[in-house]
Amino acid sequence: MRVIINEDATRVAIEAANLIINLIKRKPNCVLGLATGSTPIELYRLLVDAFSNGEISFSSVSTFNLDEYYDMTPGHHQSYRYFMDQHLFSKVDIKPENTFLPECSGKQSAEEVAKQYEMEIKRRGGIDLQLLGIGENGHIGFNEPGSSLASRTRLKTLTPNTLEANSRLFEDGEFQPTLAMTMGVGTIMDAKQVLILATGTNKSEAIGNMLLGSITSACPASILQMHPHVTAVIDRDASIDIENSDYFELSESNRRKL
Ligand code: PGA
Repeated sequence: MRVIINEDATRVAIEAANLIINLIKRKPNCVLGLATGSTPIELYRLLVDAFSNGEISFSSVSTFNLDEYYDMTPGHHQSYRYFMDQHLFSKVDIKPENTFLPECSGKQSAEEVAKQYEMEIKRRGGIDLQLLGIGENGHIGFNEPGSSLASRTRLKTLTPNTLEANSRLFEDGEFQPTLAMTMGVGTIMDAKQVLILATGTNKSEAIGNMLLGSITSACPASILQMHPHVTAVIDRDASIDIENSDYFELSESNRRKL
């Protein structure tokens, strides 16, 4: 796994944005797997800047988000569709019909939505680059510890730990969903390339386990050790539990020299 340790969250966003900008330049009709959460917000701002400067266009790009809360009214301000509209979709030239989230709000069963989501990803040629955050508990998407490492898109129950971590985003007394549709670990592993971001000391244990822990559903992100093309872009705070972080820094500096 390629590990890029940056000084701070701003550098993490710049590094990650450059990887995605270069992909869009190389393959204007690429298929991006996207993530929500606090971590990628600055990255999305930089992608919007790159679009505004005329550096890239999203007109042929398709996107598939990792997850969406179950049974959200379309347009709800807590939905991940709303988050993506706010931070990216409404600010670039992406075609709405090329943006996908596993939305399940009553008309179809979770199983049907999941099946169609997987089929649509295949129909578009698979995901070229999947962007990921990581939970403090090692989840990727909403694949909580204990998720099958071969799982596909499906409905998941969120853990108390995840609900607690996300409660900061809900007002006092506001309904916080406890179920979500999420791409499976197997769906994520099918992406041609994975870009995982982490910032802050609260992510350091999960990052340490992802990189050098045993491959186990106790830390779903650890399965990324089996993926041939993963880049982890993290800040120094998130690197403190990597036993040999010096080695990763040396390896990255050699890579840049060669
Ligand atoms: P965060 O969430 O970016 O808000 O920390 C990441 C995740 O839970 O996957």
